[in-house]
Amino acid sequence: MYFQRLPLVGFLTTALGLSWNTSSSSASSPTITSPTPNECPTGPALPTNPHLSNGLALTPPMGWSSWNQFGDQIDEILIRDTIQTMASNGLKDAGYVFVNLDDGWQRYKGNRSANPLEADPVKFPSGIKALADFAHAHGFKLGIYSGPGQSTCAGYTGSEGHEDEDAAMFASWGIDHLKYDSCCSHEHAPKSEVQKIVLKMSKALLAQSHPIVYHACHCGWADIWEWAADEGANQWRIGQDISDEFNYPGNREKYYFDVLDMLDRGNELVKYSGPGHWNDYDMLIVGLNGNSSQLVGTGASNIEYRTHFSMWAMVASPLLIGSDVRTLDTYSLQTLTNKEVIEVSQDPLGNAAETVGVGEEAGGDLQVYAKEMLDGSYAVALLNRGSFTAEMSISPRRDLTMPWDQYRLRDLWKHKEGTYDVPYTTEVMPHEAKVLRLWQVQANASMCFFQ
Ligand code: GLA
Repeated sequence: MYFQRLPLVGFLTTALGLSWNTSSSSASSPTITSPTPNECPTGPALPTNPHLSNGLALTPPMGWSSWNQFGDQIDEILIRDTIQTMASNGLKDAGYVFVNLDDGWQRYKGNRSANPLEADPVKFPSGIKALADFAHAHGFKLGIYSGPGQSTCAGYTGSEGHEDEDAAMFASWGIDHLKYDSCCSHEHAPKSEVQKIVLKMSKALLAQSHPIVYHACHCGWADIWEWAADEGANQWRIGQDISDEFNYPGNREKYYFDVLDMLDRGNELVKYSGPGHWNDYDMLIVGLNGNSSQLVGTGASNIEYRTHFSMWAMVASPLLIGSDVRTLDTYSLQTLTNKEVIEVSQDPLGNAAETVGVGEEAGGDLQVYAKEMLDGSYAVALLNRGSFTAEMSISPRRDLTMPWDQYRLRDLWKHKEGTYDVPYTTEVMPHEAKVLRLWQVQANASMCFFQ
């Protein structure tokens, strides 16, 4: 396994020349609660490091997941409608190809020892294989959900003791993605036990001839980012469930994170992410508008949702839409289908952006994130977490340590560009992220600017 790292100076604590038109802000920094399971005894680590890999998910998975909007109220009509909508409204063309059933597809609630794992015949009368065939026929992939316990988070039958059998069943149905959720069944388990259960399903999936992307979902506990890639996981949640909030003061109801919480947590974990193994900042909340049947939160503004999406692309999180794609408004659809921002997410180099500058005088509310792209350009986000419009700037020399005398800069939301030989400065609204891409320009090229 290898990691792609930025040739950046890292997390700078100086203002780096950022300027702003106010120095006060009423927004408080989010608090991250340490997950309780880390306080449990961890037990011995696994004796060997298996270094498993299925060779999948070389860029962050993109698609849709049923949980955030619908909870366990899902059925095959909804999933077929979702597929048909995504095929026609630009989402599929933009790269969203996974359609993932989360918890609630199963027939029985209760322990696996008392119930088989089957699809609910009322919700899915045609069966999951027919649904996977339908997805594949429309150019999509179908995902499914289970967990290593007797039951799942929503109380449905889990996979404990039947891992090989279930992996074979999923493969025979043509399932392409498995979210294997240990958040509830193993919340307080020692790390060594979580490692065992993640590995068990990983091996069971690898034994199948049908390739299945593997999401080991453990809500950001047991330092999962440190070892899950070696065990063959393609993605793992870095935190507890997201809420439908941009910035809720504190750790909501002592459990739920918000957009800024996730970004803060992820900033320390960038080195664990790369092609085939991604830090998962949780499913997208764009378009939920406070109407989720599952997530707490009253929704976010259009700008906040756009910033959330932009930052998930910058940090190379999987991009799984969590809202009802059949009723997305134009603004949300435009947010989710910005191909220039998606290019930042799907860059084959697989870097995750990290902070290269923080505006200390604004209480740390002004952050510059950057990552190097495969073509040698840089993707940069100027993030204003505060409550006042601010002027922010980016300089390749100062912030990226790139000795570029001239550079071409493109605003990926305005779709405009210019060439510059001085730091680029722009106004950033409260909770906005300007997403920019910068390329070196060779000497003597003519200059042009945009407003
Ligand atoms: C946990 C996960 C959620 C969702 C539910 C399903 O809470 O964190 O993303 O999968 O379980 O019950």
